[in-house]
This record gives sequence, structure tokens and C-alpha cells, in this order.
Amino acid sequence: MTNRKLRDSALRVGIVGMGWAGETHLKAYQQLPNVDVIAIADPREERLTQLQRTYNIPDVHTHFGPLVERPDLDIVSVCTPNQFHAPISIAALENGKHVLCEKPLARSSAEGEAMVRAAVQAGRVLEVAFNHRQRGDVSVLKQMIDEGQLGHIYHAKASWMRRSGIPGMGGWFTNRELAGGGPLIDLGVHVLDMALYLMDEPEVVAVSAATYAELGPRGRGGRNDARTMDVGPFEVEDLATAFIRLAGGATLLLEASWAVYGRAGDDFGVTLYGSDGGADIEVHNYNWENTLTVYTDIDGKPAVLKPEVPKGTGHSGVIANFVSIIESGDWSAHVGSEGLRRTQIIDACYRSAAEGREIALTDLAKAIAQDTAAD
Ligand SMILES: NC(=O)c1ccc[n+]([C@@H]2O[C@H](COP(=O)([O-])OP(=O)(O)OC[C@H]3O[C@@H](n4cnc5c(N)ncnc54)[C@H](O)[C@@H]3O)[C@@H](O)[C@H]2O)c1
Repeated sequence: MTNRKLRDSALRVGIVGMGWAGETHLKAYQQLPNVDVIAIADPREERLTQLQRTYNIPDVHTHFGPLVERPDLDIVSVCTPNQFHAPISIAALENGKHVLCEKPLARSSAEGEAMVRAAVQAGRVLEVAFNHRQRGDVSVLKQMIDEGQLGHIYHAKASWMRRSGIPGMGGWFTNRELAGGGPLIDLGVHVLDMALYLMDEPEVVAVSAATYAELGPRGRGGRNDARTMDVGPFEVEDLATAFIRLAGGATLLLEASWAVYGRAGDDFGVTLYGSDGGADIEVHNYNWENTLTVYTDIDGKPAVLKPEVPKGTGHSGVIANFVSIIESGDWSAHVGSEGLRRTQIIDACYRSAAEGREIALTDLAKAIAQDTAAD
């Protein structure tokens, strides 16, 4: 049990949604010397009591409202099912808090845009937790790309595939209203983020996607874990694939599945093809060693490099970066725009899959306007 006194100079944090992600944020904040977690919120009272005792948290709330309205908080972490990301983040921003929202930013572009507007209006930071971007292999490869070692990257693949990994079968993850989608919005968003980050944020022009639900609706591919709220059947995809056109002619293949008849395990990564070199990040069951391979020419001959990579920092790195942005006072570039771009791409992928055609990102704005007018 920790025993931390509250300090006037520390940044004060509240966390909403105390499942796996909420506890992970809590532990990461408590590693920082200049931050105190003073309140947590979740409808599950037993869970609150257990966490309050374990981590020595002064206050607990069974609803997010009283937490985000507290005048003594600087920061709110939003770690709830995806449906609540927008309402809780917007309420926190309107109450003058900086917000770190779990991925995905939102279920839809419209929700994400409302969140970014709230951050701009409040003049506060809105960031999204893309913890896999903090991996050691990603940072080593990013540096090689920035040094020009791969040349111009013209094609990439990003994928996350599980043999049997549907989270909380029948719980919120598989409920369309609560989650907004299946593995594409849950896992695909991580590898999409990794690829776009490594490729230096190219603009996405159009997407053509398809989704499938072959195993989940038949009760196959589940993973035993405690993330259930017993809300209903399997309503989302269990596999999604997308062909993404980028400005300047580059392309990206994106694939995500919670359950597929394929190699046993939980595999993710990116492959990049550049004019002067290529690279693979291949992660099997969350390992971090020997995951990066770089393909190049040495003295005119094909060569394969295996750069050494550190483990990386995951959520600790995300939260340390978020706190340092707040401490810098330079907030205007951190209003959730990156998270929104990922949400827009995924929204366009779901629309493309539903309509069976390529969707231009410029048409997405028109489709959202039509949806809003019809509501
Ligand atoms: N970055 C990552 O690697 C990563 C990993 C897992 C989950 N996540 C994200 O974190 C979020 C939560 O996922 P999880 O795995 O922790 O789920 P979880 O089911 O373990 O926890 C969700 C918690 O939110 C609580 N909750 C539900 N509705 C709430 C509300 N209205 N107000 C307050 N609390 C509420 C639930 O009681 C539960 O304790 C999701 O957005 C998910 O995508 C991110």
C-alpha cells in the first residue's frame, strides 16, 4: 500500500473507469514524483474499495459527474468503455481539466470532433493513450526513418491478429453501442497509429474496407477474462481488412482480428517498404526482443539488420509525456487531433465495409453532415 501525502505543488489526477486500463493509468501516475491521484470513479463499489485500499486513494465516486466537477483536480484520465469517452472527456474539459483518453478517442468522427472542439474551447490538453507507440522497436525504427535510412516509404502493412482473443465475450467489447466496433476500433487503431506515426503522418485520402463476423457469433474465439458486463450477444466484426490510399500515392494495408483460424497467439506489427530500405516489426504475444528487422543494401548487396531495441515504456511513457506537456504550458498543439484522424479513418472503414465501396475522406464529412441532419 502506498502512503503519499497530498502536496500543494503536485498535479492532481482523477481517473474514471477502473478496469484494466484505469488501474494501469493509476500505477503509471503513481510512478511520477509530481503527481497525486486523489479520486477514482466507477459504478462498481467493490472494485473502488479494493483499489482505494491498495493504492491509498483519498476519494472514490460511483459516478463520473462529481469527479469531473471537483475544483481540486487538474487532470482526468478516461478509461471507460468507448461509448463514454466523449461525454466524460467533454464534461472534464468543460470543467477546465486536461484529459488523457484511452484509445480509441471515440466511436465515431462526430463524437471525436466534439471532443476536439471542447479541448480547443477550454484551452486544455486532450491526448489519447497510444501505448504501443512507446515500444522500443518503434522508437528505434522511427529514428532510422527520420535519418532517411528507408528513403521514401511507399507501401506499408499494419496488422493485429489473434487466434482466440475476443475480449469479454458478451460484455461491452462485443456490444456495438458500448464499443462502436470490434477488433478494428480496438486493436486496429493501435497498429494504424504505429504505421502513421512511422510514416510521418501522411494524409489519408480514401479507404476500402470489409468486415466479417464468422467466429464470434458462433461463440468461438473467446478469451477467458473478467471484462464482462453481461450486456448481450456478439454484435461487432471479428475480422476487418482495409486498403488505405495516402496522399502522394503511398498505400497502407490494415488488418485486425480478435479470432481467426491462423497461427496460435496474439500477433501484431507493421511492415514498411521504402525506396532505400524496408522494415518489419513483428510482435508475438507482446514480446519486445528481436522484433525489429531492417532490410537494406550494403556495398550493393542485400543485407538484413537486427537492431537492438530497448523494451520501451508503454503506458508509463504515455503518461509521463502527457504530464510533461501539461507542465510545459504549451498546450495548443495537443487538442486530440491525432486521435481524431485515427477515428475518422476507422469511421470511414466501417462505412466503406457497410456500403461495399471505397470512401474518400472528403466524402466522410458529407456523410456525417447527412447523419447529423437525419438525427
Ligand atoms: N491502450 C491499451 O492498450 C488498452 C488496453 C485495454 C483497454 N483499453 C481501453 O481502455 C478502455 C477500458 O477498457 P478496459 O479493458 O479497462 O475495460 P474494463 O471492462 O476492464 O473496464 C472498464 C471499467 O469502466 C467501468 N465503467 C463502465 N461504465 C462506466 C461509466 N459510465 N463511468 C465510469 N466507469 C464506467 C466499468 O465498471 C469497468 O470497471 C477502453 O476504451 C479500451 O479500448 C486500452
